[in-house]
Amino acid sequence: MKKKTSIKTMVGFITVVCATAMLCLPNGSTAADNATKGAQKVPETVDINLQKQCPSIPGLPADKKDVKGFTHEKHAIQYLLGKEKFSKYHYTDQFTCTACHTEAKSQEAITEDGMCASIQEELEKAGGAQKMSKFFHNTCKKCHAAMKKAGEKTGPTSCKGCHKR
Ligand code: HEC
Ligand code: HEC
Ligand code: HEC
Repeated sequence: MKKKTSIKTMVGFITVVCATAMLCLPNGSTAADNATKGAQKVPETVDINLQKQCPSIPGLPADKKDVKGFTHEKHAIQYLLGKEKFSKYHYTDQFTCTACHTEAKSQEAITEDGMCASIQEELEKAGGAQKMSKFFHNTCKKCHAAMKKAGEKTGPTSCKGCHKR
């Protein structure tokens, strides 16, 4: 998996977000600020394919689906702000990462190297590796569905919206 984050693009993007004010929190600290501090650690997009990424995890189901070009950074610093109640997993606007990296203790602790071990741990808590689609659907699809139900602009709930294959 490649890291495609361009710091320049990201800083430009954050400036736009903060210029529109709404997304800047009263205490002046936003997920965007935090993301800037750990700039190289918040990839802009990621291809989600656990079987390919973490073949070391035993018991994963056959690789039939993936999600290409997931807008990782936008979720972390923009889409999730103020939407915690729609998420299956707890997070805060100051630390959005735990919506998906459910076991993370800090932003710095989420590293590409440690990713497979921590996902394995997350899956064990969520019922085992064979339950990986349930884990991801709880993480992703549930939020989209809950927001849709509440009439808010959100991401896809149909299979093809996330899976091109
Ligand atoms: C909406 C879900 C979501 C949020 C929020 C999120 N991530 Fe991720 N992140 C993912 C997924 C999915 C992957 C790919 C790994 C996987 O299959 O779980 C990933 C991968 C990563 C990677 C590894 C990148 C690579 O190329 O392998 C890092 C580093 C990372 N995230 C850091 C963060 C940090 C720091 C935050 C908080 C500022 C964050 N993430 C917030 C879902 C999320
Ligand atoms: C807290 C709620 C929440 C969670 C959790 C969440 N999303 Fe989203 N997602 C959104 C919102 C909100 C948007 C659209 C925002 C907009 O268009 O203004 C979105 C948009 C998308 C889109 C459309 C492309 C885009 O960037 O607009 C895709 C695909 C997507 N999400 C996939 C995922 C995946 C995969 C995960 C889990 C790894 C995930 N989402 C987790 C809220 C969430
Ligand atoms: C909001 C995004 C989203 C939606 C909508 C969604 N999925 Fe997924 N699904 C994921 C993610 C993320 C994964 C983990 C992919 C990976 O790591 O390979 C996943 C994994 C899977 C897997 C596990 C097998 C594999 O090859 O990884 C299956 C099967 C699957 N989805 C089927 C479906 C079906 C069928 C639907 C429609 C009823 C659906 N998904 C809707 C995000 C979504």
